[in-house]
This record gives sequence, C-alpha cells and structure tokens, in this order.
Amino acid sequence: LLNEYEHYMRKEIFDQPKALRDTLAGRLTEDGVELAELAAAWDAGLFARVRKIDIVASGTSYHAGLIGKKALEQLLHFPVAATYSSEFVHEHANLDETNLVILLSQSGETADTLSALREAQKYGCPTIAITNTAGSTISRKADCTLLTKAGPELAVASTKAYTAQIATMLLLAVWTAQRMSSLQPTQVADLLAALRQLPTDVESTLIMIDDAIDQLAQVTYDQESLFLIGRGLDYVLALEGALKLQEIAYIHADAYAAGEMKHGTMALITPGMPVIALATQTGSVFDKTISNIREVKARDAFVVGITTVSDDVLADEVDEVMYIPETHPLLMPVLAAIPLQLLAYYAGTVRGNDVDRPRNLAKSLTVE
Ligand code: F6R
Repeated sequence: LLNEYEHYMRKEIFDQPKALRDTLAGRLTEDGVELAELAAAWDAGLFARVRKIDIVASGTSYHAGLIGKKALEQLLHFPVAATYSSEFVHEHANLDETNLVILLSQSGETADTLSALREAQKYGCPTIAITNTAGSTISRKADCTLLTKAGPELAVASTKAYTAQIATMLLLAVWTAQRMSSLQPTQVADLLAALRQLPTDVESTLIMIDDAIDQLAQVTYDQESLFLIGRGLDYVLALEGALKLQEIAYIHADAYAAGEMKHGTMALITPGMPVIALATQTGSVFDKTISNIREVKARDAFVVGITTVSDDVLADEVDEVMYIPETHPLLMPVLAAIPLQLLAYYAGTVRGNDVDRPRNLAKSLTVE
C-alpha cells in the first residue's frame, strides 16, 4: 500500500493530484457543474426556503470550510457562517428551516460534527454532508451527501481529504450559484477552467517545492515556535499550516492575520524567529501583506515567503522565497497548502516523530 513511500502522510500528500481528479470527475461539465447527488433534493424543494448558510466542521475540515465560506459568499452573495462543530452545538442563534447546514468530515464519524448535525436537525435545517467515507454515520443521517473521492486516508493528519474538501466546496458553490441566482456560466468561466487544471497544478507544485521544503525543514525543525501570517485566504491557509506544524512536528505554531501582528503579537518577534509569510493572493491583499512583512523584517525575523511564480516583488523582501504555480485566487489555498503539509512532514521526520500517528491524537474522534 505504501509503494515507494516511507510514510502514509507523504504518500497521501503525493496522492493529491489523483484525489482531486477523482473528486472532480463527472462533476465538471462543458459549461458548469453537475452534482447528481443533490439534484433530487433540490427538485423536491428541500433548499427552497434557504436564506443563510452555516458551515460546520472540526480541525482541518473546518479550515476547508472557511475557504468554502469565502467561495459561497463570493458566488451567492448570501450570509455564510463557519463554526467549529464543538462550538456550534452551543453557539447557534435563530436556527430554522431557512438555514442550510453544511457539515464537513473526512471520516464522517467525528462526534462533535455528528452532534452539530443532530442539533441542526432539531431545528428543521436542511443538511448536506461532505465526507470522504460513504456509508459513514454523518453521511447516513444528513439529508444529502457529497462525497470527496480522496480514497482512504490512513495517516492521522488530513492532507488529501482537505484539498478534496476545498474542491468539493467550490463545486457546491458553483452548482448552488447556477441554481439560486441563475449565474451565467461565463461568470465563473475562470474558476471552472482553474478547477479543470487543478490536479495538474498540484502535480507541478509537488515537483517545484519538494526539495526546497526538505531543505527548509533542515534549518527550521529545531525551532521552539514560529508564526504564519497572511491576509484573506492566505490567513485561512495559515491556520491550516499552523495546525499541521503543531500536530506533526510538535512545533508551537501560530497563525496570524498579517495586519494583526502590530496589535500585540509583534512583541514576541525576536531576531531569527521564523515567520512564514503567505502572499499568494493578488491586488491590495498582496500589497498590504508586503507592508506587514516589512514590519516583522524590521525586527529581524527570519522570513520565508510563499508566493506565485508570476511575482517578482517578494524575493527582495524576505530571507527565502518559495514559488508555487498561479491559479484562480479561490484555489490558491489548495496549491499553497502543499508546501505547508510538506514542511510539517519533513520537520516531523527530522525530529524523529511518528508522523503517521502523532502523540495524543486519533484519526477518528468519537468523543466530544
Ligand atoms: C488534522 C486533522 C483533524 C481532523 C478533525 C476532523 O490534520 O486531521 O483536525 O480534520 O479531527 O476530522 P473529520 O474531518 O474526520 O471530521
């Protein structure tokens, strides 16, 4: 099963092009998205009263949900909230049948997410599960299920399921937008083209970045703590990168919205402190991130920038720069996740950790 790979985590990182191809297959059509699993429920009027969307999940699945939130907001102009499952059970307000609740869970068995599903159903909310496990409890109990087709994920850390969840959220966003707001295919032509190209872009990213990240891990693995900063979708991605570094490398890693460092956390920046700066979004987000990078550089942080191949600015601002291919902004977090997954993997292996089964954690969490 491992083939030439030393660990499941590495194999699953490299499985991502296939996981994405399988997840997109049959769903991306000439001019839009077809989700056969949802069509019957739609035609039966299950979603007719929906006015608000809640995305609910735990851990890495929650981070995929945050990207889904941005995609749904951009395409639907609908209020979309994303909440941790363990919080949703206490913290929901005014739930009723106008709230569509989307639950993301790789395993389909996470107790927190299952409780959140029950809570949503108590209030009559229509529910959609996005899960990697056909026949799982969450999938059986939700009104409809969209499967991510990442294949079995055996390492505790979620990697290929995470990127497949993002792709599935984007399919769902386009599909819903087509139906709810009679979106013209031309309005999302760029996004559809980028989705078609995504598995190949992930392949290129793996090739471009693998050795460079291995080398970076050799100089950062013994750090006590580090920061990841970014804005917008780059910030959401920073949250996932920090989780992976904590979970697999046992490095204290904090994600910060880049503009927030100066409101307190900058006090922790000391000379040589590693800061991973994500600058994969274009426009004003990029320019403002550069200003924030200058702020941490001024305190002599060791800054590693991650950006796209078309950028020629970042290299002059940071100590090291890593380039990844460019795609649609909503899909950049898929490509930019790869260096962060690999960094956690390499740093964890250099530190002698059991990267497939990190301490104190389990793959499927059946307690709340
Ligand atoms: C982190 C990780 C966990 C899971 C979380 C939810 O790498 O794997 O944070 O994402 O426990 O699990 P699922 O998606 O199975 O509900």
